[in-house]
Amino acid sequence: MPGDYVRRTAGSRRLYRRASRVFAGGVNHNARYYEPYPIFVSRARGQHIWDEDGNRYTDYWMGHMALVLGHSPKVVVEALRSQIANGTHYGMGSGLSVELGEEIQKTVPCAEMMRFCNTGAEATMYLVRLARGYTGKRTVIKMAGGWHGYNTELNKGVHAPFDGSESAGILPEEQAFVKTVRFNDLEAAEREVKAAGGDAAAIFLEPVLGAGGCLPADRDYLKGLRELADRSGTLLAFDEIITGYRVALGGAQEWYGVTPDLASFGKIAGGGLPLGLVCGRKEIVSLADPTRKERLVAIGGGTFSENPLTMAAGLATVRYLRKNARTVYHALEKAGERTRKGIDGAFRELGIEAHTTGLGSLFLTHFGPEPKNAEEMSREDKRTQKEYALRLMSGGIFILPGHPGGISTAHTEKDIDDLVELSGMQAQYLRQRKRIT
Ligand SMILES: Cc1ncc(COP(=O)(O)O)c(C=O)c1O
Repeated sequence: MPGDYVRRTAGSRRLYRRASRVFAGGVNHNARYYEPYPIFVSRARGQHIWDEDGNRYTDYWMGHMALVLGHSPKVVVEALRSQIANGTHYGMGSGLSVELGEEIQKTVPCAEMMRFCNTGAEATMYLVRLARGYTGKRTVIKMAGGWHGYNTELNKGVHAPFDGSESAGILPEEQAFVKTVRFNDLEAAEREVKAAGGDAAAIFLEPVLGAGGCLPADRDYLKGLRELADRSGTLLAFDEIITGYRVALGGAQEWYGVTPDLASFGKIAGGGLPLGLVCGRKEIVSLADPTRKERLVAIGGGTFSENPLTMAAGLATVRYLRKNARTVYHALEKAGERTRKGIDGAFRELGIEAHTTGLGSLFLTHFGPEPKNAEEMSREDKRTQKEYALRLMSGGIFILPGHPGGISTAHTEKDIDDLVELSGMQAQYLRQRKRIT
């Protein structure tokens, strides 16, 4: 099977060899590596990407799920074109950032006040700082499999066995007050809050576990976490960097009807350009106000925070989504359901146990029993999952192996039917392989 992949991707293979001499592991994000080597992209448009060899793929990776209107949508391209002529970097605030902030305030239930930064990893780092500064407590409770970017504190318990640091360069002391609990397990969170003995600053989670398996939280679980947080004087914080502006206009907090105290956003909110955003209740976020007389909860900023290109792209995207919310989110939800049901049906028809999890336009196919949390997901058949993704690539569909897919408004019903059809071919192949072995 990789044979076909290798035959079609000689240009990517050559670039990968060169990249390996320049970048550690030949990539600039660990998630982008897969065996035997990743494709290198030469251009993108709508629902498609093209690799170095000119192969066209229907793209479901969508730039780490940051693109909900497809690649280079007209509204964003036009906004960027006119902004480039007016300056690419001010290093000061602008009307654009105020307008984007106001749009976000209007659309995200918890966003009474916010700060922009450049990446999700920065936003979640600031979120932890705000939670600790506001509560005066130290412990942050996160989920096993929860991914919040490469910042030092939260880079813990992401991969099995879910109890340690993800990097030899991070000291255990730096993560001493970050605790990991099982996702979708209210009692586990209750136990950890109790164990913290009044020191729990925040319960922090993705409402749909992303890298941890594209696993949606149960509604009652999130409601239970909200009550637990209120009962124990702990903040509830959502990482909406994937779910923000994807599962609903107001993110997962709107979809579930559970409002957190703090939230991080990124990806779609920046129109597909680099953005991080930390937002939440005014009395918490205003602790970062540098004009305050009391001790500041410094969350700072960066050289490129509120850069006008991201602001223009984000504003064009969020405005478009707000104006078209009803049709966009209905269509994305329907497309997601068609995808999940179609793929599972294609495998089940041939007796292969597969479960496509997700919410709205997010999906990931698992081979084995349906997982409810990252621990269960880590025991599934990863080899088949990766092989499936490679086979899809040979058929002109790109899903980053082992990672969730995100459907955009540029995808058509035919695109989804093609994905289902190719899944059926993979099912046939797996059945044949089972017979032979
Ligand atoms: C849920 C979640 N949080 C945080 C991040 C980190 O964002 P960034 O990659 O922009 O640092 C990601 C990135 O994929 C994410 O999926």
